[in-house]
Amino acid sequence: MIGYGKQYIDQKDIDAVVEVLKSDTLTGGSVIDKFEENLSNYTGFKYCSVVNSGTAALHCALFAAGIKEGDEVIVPSITFTATANAVCYLGAKPVFCDVNESLLINPYIIENLVTPKTKAIITVDMGGQLVDYQTIKSICKKHNLVFISDSCHAFGAITKKSKIATPDIICYSFHPVKHITTGEGGAVLTNDMFYDTLVKTFRNHGRYKTFDNKQLHIGYNYRMPDINAALGNSQLKKIDKFIIKRKEIAIKYLKAFENMVNVKVVRQQFENVWHLFIIKTHNRDKFIEYMKANNIMCVVHYPPVYDHPYHKKSCVNCPYTATIYGQVVSIPIFYTLSEGQQSLIIGKIINWENNMKLLIEDV
Ligand SMILES: Cc1ncc(COP(=O)(O)O)c(C=O)c1O
Repeated sequence: MIGYGKQYIDQKDIDAVVEVLKSDTLTGGSVIDKFEENLSNYTGFKYCSVVNSGTAALHCALFAAGIKEGDEVIVPSITFTATANAVCYLGAKPVFCDVNESLLINPYIIENLVTPKTKAIITVDMGGQLVDYQTIKSICKKHNLVFISDSCHAFGAITKKSKIATPDIICYSFHPVKHITTGEGGAVLTNDMFYDTLVKTFRNHGRYKTFDNKQLHIGYNYRMPDINAALGNSQLKKIDKFIIKRKEIAIKYLKAFENMVNVKVVRQQFENVWHLFIIKTHNRDKFIEYMKANNIMCVVHYPPVYDHPYHKKSCVNCPYTATIYGQVVSIPIFYTLSEGQQSLIIGKIINWENNMKLLIEDV
């Protein structure tokens, strides 16, 4: 079965991890500092804190932003549930904003959702495509909101050479299907020393080095182990080739599907590093079955968060999400997807395009 995403690990990655395993330090060592320095240099953000998941990164970011019980945080309707869950961890309320044709938070709706309780916006660079950072930043400035970017899908889209507006705090995930992996892991980056200090203490039980390691507020153990950071350092050396390959596959898919009627690609407007390749098709669930019967795994990213029973209590007004989510599906895209596999996937989708009506009766 061809999966929708997959890590790439080479001998250098293995050697880097083994070196740490043979050393005296498995946590809190210099490899962590090195990974943070490397991530700062790569992205251009001044401060970096690595943590043990993208979810932990979001929790730390929201804590640093001062989110408390009773606050409201605007999040997109379509994202992984972690984006909204992190808001709930702090007793705050996620307020769901409709997405646009790119499946990105719709900046033209955000302002309707701002209330006196709103304290922050979390945007999501869905599938690897960047949101309109400039517009979101202006909205945040106007309403005095903290701008947090959940860029778990888009590591590599912002580098120190990027000439775009930056969020107050940005979060990454290094889960195995992401652009680089540390097994599990994440990072929080910012240009603000105050936010960085709060993140670094929150990930370590709220204890402050500058106050004799005294605990000043609640915190967690969100520390990344050295083994994972060593893998991250090694993976980071390959990020450029990882992104180039994903872009090559995406270009091939875009070309193959450009004139299709039954299969459409989600609108592309901004820089995209293609964590996912998301298409839209009617009879989406039948499409997934059809692809599975051909040993190709396709996955839905994502059902609307407000449809999960846990979040159902939140009030929503997301008409575009309601019309689109039944059509979206991600097809495989990852570094080791071979030319043969790409052709197989394209061939099966051409067949779906030409014979959808017949195929849905078959599967
Ligand atoms: C948009 C988004 N945010 C947050 C996360 C959470 O990251 P992690 O799985 O590393 O906790 C994910 C994970 O896939 C995600 O897709």
